[in-house]
Amino acid sequence: MSEEQTVVLGVTGGIAAYKAADLASKLVQSGITVKTIMTYSAAEFITPLTFRNLTGQPVVMDMFDLESEYSVEHVALAEAADVVVIAPATANIIAKIACGIADDSLTCTILATEAPVVVAPSMNDNMYKNPITQENIEKLKTRGFIIVEPEFGRLASGKIGQGRLADLEKIIEVVKATLDNKR
Ligand SMILES: Cc1cc2nc3c(=O)[nH]c(=O)nc-3n(C[C@H](O)[C@H](O)[C@H](O)COP(=O)(O)O)c2cc1C
Repeated sequence: MSEEQTVVLGVTGGIAAYKAADLASKLVQSGITVKTIMTYSAAEFITPLTFRNLTGQPVVMDMFDLESEYSVEHVALAEAADVVVIAPATANIIAKIACGIADDSLTCTILATEAPVVVAPSMNDNMYKNPITQENIEKLKTRGFIIVEPEFGRLASGKIGQGRLADLEKIIEVVKATLDNKR
């Protein structure tokens, strides 16, 4: 990749949130600028400090933070993004996006961006199979969101089912292909 590309990484409050750190690191190592937005729930699982250090960029969480360099315009990251990737994406964030809710930094950014959005769901298999979640995912697909389906395998609960965050290499492949398509 020659010119600089910016990926806005949305991290939400799932057990796989720790994997987002590795994703951020791998994207940075590919020469991509990564700007992270975390939900408050995500910060229960992993700290903003991790992403700030791995990406060398400020991490956005509080929309109303006067100290944030992005707070002057709550949609600044929506405009900066070449691609937005949400990994892991909770059932909650998927439902919020499907309904057009914009009550935090991440959902405002998603609603405001014109960039392609890649969504990598990760959740308990029953949450994933729930027709409400499936309908929400279908709705996102029809709106042009790119879904990286979760894998079948061992879940955090110890159960076997579909809901594991897709392999990071797969997510990176989709993000890079989406960046390339955008040129
Ligand atoms: C220990 C624990 C693990 C969780 N793991 C997941 C998960 O993997 N996927 C999911 O959709 N929700 C999970 N949740 C529920 C979310 O944290 C909850 O729905 C939260 O409101 C999501 O907020 P956010 O979408 O704004 O990040 C988990 C909750 C707890 C307490």
